[in-house]
Amino acid sequence: MDDLIRRAAKDLAAAGNVAALTGAGISIESGIPPFRGKGGLWERFDPMEFAHIDALMRDPTKVWKVLIKEMKEILDRAEPNNGHKGLAKLEARDKLKTIITQNVDGLHQAAGNTDVIEYHGTFAWQRCMDCGKKYENREVDVSKIPPRCDCGGILRPDAVFFGEMIPAEAMWRSRQAATDCDLMLVVGTSAVVQPAAMIPVIAKENGAKIVEINPEKTPLTFEISDYLIMGEAGEVMNRILEAMEKI
Ligand code: OAD
Repeated sequence: MDDLIRRAAKDLAAAGNVAALTGAGISIESGIPPFRGKGGLWERFDPMEFAHIDALMRDPTKVWKVLIKEMKEILDRAEPNNGHKGLAKLEARDKLKTIITQNVDGLHQAAGNTDVIEYHGTFAWQRCMDCGKKYENREVDVSKIPPRCDCGGILRPDAVFFGEMIPAEAMWRSRQAATDCDLMLVVGTSAVVQPAAMIPVIAKENGAKIVEINPEKTPLTFEISDYLIMGEAGEVMNRILEAMEKI
């Protein structure tokens, strides 16, 4: 791994415009479970029964009780870890411009990154299913499930459920960031959910180097990534930043 850490440090030092695509893996060290693999949410919950828009429309109380309330409680407590902080340091060093995240936890912004595209929306806000009014999470009283808007409509997270469109601006801005970057860090994503998994492909087609950080191989590893640093996001980011200081 040492050679790859040095290689990544050199590649980052040489890059003019760096973007990152992140997934649930970067937030595991903050206590947020991933979706797939051991201990993943989809091991306990069938996503088609709880995370599909049809399920939410059919029975919002059930989806709130089983999935949203638990996720909201976990996310309310979570703090950025060294993986998020490492990406924030890369921005502070004028290297990293944009993060495209599939996560809904707001931890990149909490760590200090200023240009974060929330590809799957956010759990930080709730939105009325009738009138569209938005409420910040902390304003929402979850003592009665499902929580309701002033108009009486049911609130839902301002996040993308299966079967829903990616917000148009997030889609457009991500494509632009992928086209413009000359290096993309792909951190903690299984890269199996589309269209997010196409973002590194777009970056590659436009000449960017793709550097993956993940303890496991992914579908990107052989075809798209230049190399994979096999490890946990927090430790790998710390070591890359240290190695950059020695260049
Ligand atoms: P997944 O849960 O599919 O994948 C998590 C990835 O993180 C895996 O590839 C793990 O190997 C890796 N990983 C585990 N521990 C790690 C660590 N400490 N550091 C770095 N990586 C680690 O999560 P996503 O790829 O984000 O969509 O899932 C994509 C989408 O599927 C989510 O946004 C969500 C879900 O269904 C929606 O809800 C629309």
